[in-house]
Amino acid sequence: MKFIHVTDSHLVAPGSRLHGLDPQARFARCIDSINELHADAECCVITGDLAERGGAEAYEFLAAELARCAIPTHLVVGNHDDRIAFRQAFPEIPGRGQDFVQADLETSAGVFLTLDTVQPGTHAGSYCSDRQEWLRSKLTEHASRPVFIFMHHPPFDIQIPALDVIGLAEKDEFAQIVTSHSNVRHIFFGHAHRPLSGVWKGISFSSLRGTNHQIGLDFVSDTITYVDEPPDYSIVFIDDEQIVVHTHTY
Ligand SMILES: [Fe+2]
Repeated sequence: MKFIHVTDSHLVAPGSRLHGLDPQARFARCIDSINELHADAECCVITGDLAERGGAEAYEFLAAELARCAIPTHLVVGNHDDRIAFRQAFPEIPGRGQDFVQADLETSAGVFLTLDTVQPGTHAGSYCSDRQEWLRSKLTEHASRPVFIFMHHPPFDIQIPALDVIGLAEKDEFAQIVTSHSNVRHIFFGHAHRPLSGVWKGISFSSLRGTNHQIGLDFVSDTITYVDEPPDYSIVFIDDEQIVVHTHTY
């Protein structure tokens, strides 16, 4: 099974720029590249910060771009997103208003769980008791299947202080849930705007650069610095024995 992981598009109103860059143009080039090189992929998952300021025009642009994408796309919300504006551009997404944007998706590799870690009013992430209950029930429901988790915020510190201070609030509770089930094979997340991978509590994970601006590789400061690095997307291959994540700089 092959799929594409994209993250942190930070789209703005067409004609606007962000950190000196054109998020719309960069995202369109990502879709062009997927269409040209990976139309055989089963799907694409975008792990949040779809829009920089949660604006309607940004989501309308995203919907138009995804309509011309050769493969089905699944969306996760991040701390820059606005659920209400997001839902207006994507009315097919279940729920209303501030309902959590979460889903369990059947794929040929197993079940993809897309999680909502947004807490309006803060850039930090949250996985409250209601969401914890949903995750517990989904991991139980799909106990006999491999499960892959997609979320915006990493559920643990990544040793970049500027990002760890806006990490997930309920790390311990989240860890308790996923480690009490044996079917979570990998966690894909965004938020970091950096390529990184490893193993957490026996579960492999990966992230990648966003499609617009990137965050500096700074292990000391607790203030975010932005750096001029090119955008990425990842190509992921999954079978019963392995998960291979290639990060493609386009
Ligand atoms: Fe972001």
